[in-house]
Amino acid sequence: MKARHLLTTIGMAALMLSSGAAYAQSKMTIGFSQVGSESGWRAAETKVSKIEAEKRGVDLKISDAQQKQENQIRAVRSFIAQGVDAIFIAPVVSTGWDSVLKEAKDAKIPVVLLDRSIETKDESLYLTAVTSDTVYEGKVAGEWLAKETGGKCNVVELQGTVGSSPAINRKKGFDQVVAANPGMKIVRTQSGDFTRTKGKEVMESFIKAEGGGKNICAVYAHNDDMAIGAIQAIKEAGLKPGKDIKIVSIDAVPDIFKAMADGEANVTVELTPNMAGPALDALMAFKKDGKQPPKWIQTESKVYTPETAKAEYDKRKELY
Ligand code: AHR
Repeated sequence: MKARHLLTTIGMAALMLSSGAAYAQSKMTIGFSQVGSESGWRAAETKVSKIEAEKRGVDLKISDAQQKQENQIRAVRSFIAQGVDAIFIAPVVSTGWDSVLKEAKDAKIPVVLLDRSIETKDESLYLTAVTSDTVYEGKVAGEWLAKETGGKCNVVELQGTVGSSPAINRKKGFDQVVAANPGMKIVRTQSGDFTRTKGKEVMESFIKAEGGGKNICAVYAHNDDMAIGAIQAIKEAGLKPGKDIKIVSIDAVPDIFKAMADGEANVTVELTPNMAGPALDALMAFKKDGKQPPKWIQTESKVYTPETAKAEYDKRKELY
């Protein structure tokens, strides 16, 4: 009797171990090479990615590249060596990815790009890219400003990280509007690297160079964080942001809604921080039955102005 009981116990333990192993095997591991934490939007994207992965029982390993491509390449190689099931990359710059992506492809590890795109002749190097239409974001921001100012405005531009796809494309889209409006001019343009501190620094130099700010009609910032930095610089120069100098930016983070509600910012274009949700759905369908997602999964870009700022701030403040 005792022996039979022992065998049953061993059998049950073995069953539990094997089903545990099966569970461990079925749990997908994804390596995510994240840009860094340059902006409020970026921090929210990291947070949302963790939530979306957890919802789906995915083990998400996040590596912070501190805004350096060499760190991203190192992280991707390490993910390949660990044999992860897939790799997510938010590429800090758009060029220089082919070799490392080829290594992932050779190891049969699918790669999904999040929020930024890359330049490559070989699109088979990644499964899909989940991004917004960043040219459209620049265009729609420019159109709002052209309408608001009757097409007459001296603009200073705070560009994002040099070589990054949103900086290239948000400039391109805005420039299209400037080209169509002879009274609109970009009088100064410089990178503020998507950060609040650099946005403020660069804006201070623009104000100095442009008659203490009197020649500036608007700031076009490639993200809200740089816009917030610029708002501080404008206030310190004794001018009123949102009134003396209009503030146009992209992301729709809570701080810009707060600035809008206070009358210190004028318009923002939303970039959803939830890139991981659609990426995980596409990847899981691909893993399950080989369903090829479209090469581009486009997220929505909505324009927000002060009328709804308070409500939008309340909606978002928890997430950020
Ligand atoms: O790639 C998305 C951009 O990167 C966001 O607009 C910006 O805030 C971030 O740093």
